[in-house]
Amino acid sequence: MGQKVVLVTGGAGYIGSHTVLQLLLGGFKVVVMDNFNNASEIAMLRVRELAGEFGNNLSVHKVDLRDRAALEGIFASTRFDAVIHFAGLKAVGESVQKPLLYYNNNLVGTITLLEVMAAHGCKKLVFSSSATVYGWPKQVPCTEESPLSALNPYGRTKLAIEEICRDIYRADPGWKIILLRYFNPVGAHPSGYIGEDPHGIPNNLMPLVQQVAVGRRPALTVFGNDYNTVDGTGVRDYIHIVDLADGHVAALRKLDDPNIGCVVYNLGTGKGTSVLEMVKAFEKVSGKKIPLVMAGRRPGDAEIVYASTEKAERELNWKAKYGIEDMCRSLWNWVCKNPYGYPSEEYIPPSNANGEI
Ligand code: NAD
Ligand code: UD1
Repeated sequence: MGQKVVLVTGGAGYIGSHTVLQLLLGGFKVVVMDNFNNASEIAMLRVRELAGEFGNNLSVHKVDLRDRAALEGIFASTRFDAVIHFAGLKAVGESVQKPLLYYNNNLVGTITLLEVMAAHGCKKLVFSSSATVYGWPKQVPCTEESPLSALNPYGRTKLAIEEICRDIYRADPGWKIILLRYFNPVGAHPSGYIGEDPHGIPNNLMPLVQQVAVGRRPALTVFGNDYNTVDGTGVRDYIHIVDLADGHVAALRKLDDPNIGCVVYNLGTGKGTSVLEMVKAFEKVSGKKIPLVMAGRRPGDAEIVYASTEKAERELNWKAKYGIEDMCRSLWNWVCKNPYGYPSEEYIPPSNANGEI
């Protein structure tokens, strides 16, 4: 069998860049398509360097997913074995302010992609869904069969795309689709050369912690300390970004199963960690004090969310390896090397994929 070729939409972003690296190291040929609205071209240069001898198997197109003609051109020039679809907008607060922007980007983008895939006979897809589709779970851990709900336009785009995927599979069982529901990705590649570099004000906990650690903000606001949890703060299932990236390689291999159909997997660790536990772990590995300001609950926040990981372990043969201190250590390494994220121009190549300089 020849080398597998994968199209990765949104491959320059946080989860995408780490996944592209693991795919290259796993021997896949990778074509990235990204409009770079929330990503840096330097991330792609660094991925290529980190992949060493496999770096030549990466090509990158600066294209918006809704540009049908450009997509047609990419599919006409390359026969893809599968697509991993990360491209999308993901800020919950912004989605409430600008719902049409989110519906247009995430839904129109995905429908255009699916139409072009079908037209070119490429019917294998891995899609980035989210634990957000569990809403405020009545029971934890969340299993893939738990009830679904969406509390904001961002969440509704994820639920709608899941439904679209189930519908196209029902209409044409030639499709093979894996919907991955991610829990809370944290950390960076151990080299510290790629990591999360959100444009604008971050929404998620750890990017905010990292900005406090380097003095870009005075304190972390803790949203709620009156939840029914170990210390009153919200509990989530944080997963190391490299574990999450490896989960995509496992999902891609699973697409070769002739009976896969359209199926959902949680990617989490199965362990819940509170906000204060997470801050403590970060303080321990970084030696930095994170000043806290206690505030009220954030609207739309659930109390406790963590994954049941049994199905992914059993069927994808994948299990998260890293704990919260590993996540915080890799995050701190990235932050120390890139306190302001990716530089705008200069670039110093790392020496190898293990991060040894
Ligand atoms: P990210 O913003 O870092 O990556 C998304 C990438 O998609 C960016 O590089 C952006 O430039 C690109 N993009 C967006 N719209 C595009 C378009 N129309 N055409 C081409 N490129 C476009 O986000 P991420 O954290 O890497 O998330 C990747 C996916 O995973 C998203 O779909 C997100 O909703 C989903 N997800 C993320 C999390 C999380 O906590 N990070 C959790 C659950 C699900
Ligand atoms: C948020 C989104 C969710 C999205 C997920 C991953 C909301 C309501 N939910 O989920 O849709 O899928 O990110 O992108 O935005 N926290 C603080 N202070 C902060 C930030 C967060 O205390 O400044 C707390 C939160 O209350 C929560 C925990 O930290 O208990 C994690 O928050 P976050 O990283 O935003 O993730 P989620 O709430 O899981």
